[in-house]
Parts: sequence; structure tokens; C-alpha cells
Amino acid sequence: MSDPCRYFIPGPVWVRSEVLAEMTRPMVGHRSGEFRAVMARIFPDLKALFRTTQHAFVASCSGTGLLEAAIVNCVPRSVLVTTCGAFSERWYSIANRLGLEVDRLELEWGQAVDPVRLADHLASRRHRYDAVTITHNETSTGVINDVEALARVVREHSSDTLVLVDAVSSLASAPLEFDAWGLDVCVASSQKGIGVPPGAAVFAVSEHAMERSASEKFKGMYFDFLEFRKHFDESGNVPYTPAVPVYYALAAQLEHILRAEGLEARWARHRAMRDAVLAKTAAHADPLASNGHESPSVTTLVPKHGRSPRAIVDSMKSRGFTVSGGYGRIKDDTFRIGHMGDLTLTDVETMLAALEEVFDESR
Ligand SMILES: Cc1ncc(COP(=O)(O)O)c(C=O)c1O
Repeated sequence: MSDPCRYFIPGPVWVRSEVLAEMTRPMVGHRSGEFRAVMARIFPDLKALFRTTQHAFVASCSGTGLLEAAIVNCVPRSVLVTTCGAFSERWYSIANRLGLEVDRLELEWGQAVDPVRLADHLASRRHRYDAVTITHNETSTGVINDVEALARVVREHSSDTLVLVDAVSSLASAPLEFDAWGLDVCVASSQKGIGVPPGAAVFAVSEHAMERSASEKFKGMYFDFLEFRKHFDESGNVPYTPAVPVYYALAAQLEHILRAEGLEARWARHRAMRDAVLAKTAAHADPLASNGHESPSVTTLVPKHGRSPRAIVDSMKSRGFTVSGGYGRIKDDTFRIGHMGDLTLTDVETMLAALEEVFDESR
């Protein structure tokens, strides 16, 4: 049995001791039969996690590496970035640094990206974008975006504009249907909802995005989607030396998510943890997320009565509980409670009892 969790930041998340133990298995060469057997478990399970029959891969980098890969493989010229917080702006920074034409549809922090505003923006442009980026779960503000509706708007506008999704802090915590929602690239990191230590990132790629990548001449080598597909097709393996211990952990954890817990049950557990946090903090703090868009994996709170978010985080720490400070330009005004990965509702309730004491003390 794992120890109870006292760690509530929005990643890297607390990891079950059974998963940590996987990482101590003997090292093997990544071209060996032993490692290929690990990949033979990971590949189909990733497809099940993303809910796709198209392509799903894993790379040894953090999520940001794959956000860059999505742009490099899929955007020859222009991209529309939808933003509503610090992490969704990362797409802008990446595309800008690559010298691409980048437009931004900017929503106030705390709001979700509005499908109607997206439709209006797309209709007002004369040229077609190569891609639109969407951040499923904005980890700075605790907002979950309606990716299904936003992707539908993009599809209705142009069948040749790809939908690139950052699901770094939503995959395995919130419903995500890669094929049914018509997504083209979707990226997540190991250290968030999947519940594995940092060191790997996973991604799904549509046939359409593969075709786009095939027509892209200058995309570097390390993140070329075609390299990932080639190595999968030829040997059921990865193109470059992987972070082997993290892959051991990933194989075991995917098994746990899909078959021991079940994906729908996992989503329901996250919703229950979110609801408990919102209910128990309501008298003392307001969620930054607009009504109906509160994330199931992280809650960003604005304390009432002028209480200092930093003092709350520090008092929780002195009680043995780690919650997170704010992020980006709302750093000093907010604090965040991560409720993603393998935490239980009981873990969250224990933490909330301590938080109640902290609120009472600072009254
Ligand atoms: C929504 C979102 N996107 C991107 C990132 C960056 O991911 P990584 O640190 O794995 O590169 C994070 C990290 O917190 C995130 O929450």
C-alpha cells in the first residue's frame, strides 16, 4: 500500500510507491527484446488513453518539447493561438520563436475560450490558418476548455486547419476523445494526470497531421513525427534512446489506469475531488475559473477577506501539506490545489480539513 498523499501541486504529482518501484528494475538496452516488450504494452494503451485508432507515441522530453514538435510538424506558415492563461500563451511563444505568423485570440484569465468568439475570429480572417492551438486545461487559472466545441468550430471553418491540443494537465484526469472530437495533435506530460515521474511526454497524431508533417521539409530530426511512425512500424519501438525507467513506470501505470481503475472511473474520481475542493473552500476563497469551467485536476483560488495566498501556502506547509502558489501574472493573488493523478477523495478531504484550520486561524 502506498503512503497517504500530502502533496497537492498541479504536477509533478505524487506517485504511487508501486509505480516508483517499477523504476528500479534492471536497465536494458532499448533495442532489446525486453524493452520492445515494454513498448508492446505502452503503444496500444496510449491509443486507448487518447481514445484513438490513429497514431500514439511517447518521447523522452517534457510536454513543452512536444508542443514545439506539434508546431514544427504541422505549421508551415501561420497559426492561431487561443489563450486564457500562462500555459496557453506558451504556444504563442513557441510559434513566435520559430518565426511563424502567429495570431492570438485572447480571453481574460479565468475565462474559458469561447467557441462563438473563435468562430467570429476565423470568419473575419481572409486567409486560412495552418493550425489552431487549444489548451485543454489551463493550469494557471484552473479553467477547463470545451475542446470538443472549439475543435468543431475549427472543422466547420476549414477542413485543412489542424487542431493542436495541449492536454498536459488534463489527460487521464478529464474526458478527452481524440478521434471523436476530430483532433490532430494532442500532447501530455508523464508527471501530471498520468501519475508517473517526469521524463516522458505522450502524444497522439491524426492521419491528417501525419500527411502535413510529410509535406514539411524543415522540421529538424528529433521531433519529426515520421521518425516516430517509422520506428513503430518497423520494430514496434522508439526512434532514440528513451528514459527507460520512466517507460517501465509508464507501462505499469497505463495498465493501472485502463484496467485496474478504468478511465471513466478515473475521470469521475477527479470530478469528485474538484467538487470537494470547491465546496469546502467556498466560504473562504473564490475559484478564478468561470462558472462551469472549473478544472477537475487543479483549482486556482483567490482568498477572501484580503488573506495572503503565500501565507496560506506556508501555513499548509507547516502542517505537512504541500499546495501550490499562483502562476504567471496572477502569482501573488492566487494559490492552487492540484487534485490530479492517483490521489483519493480521502486524501483531498484530509488536506481540506487542514486548510479549514488555516482559514480559521487567519480569520
Ligand atoms: C497546460 C500546461 N501546458 C504545458 C506545460 C509544460 O509542461 P512541461 O513542464 O511538461 O514541459 C504545463 C506544465 O505545468 C501545463 O500545465
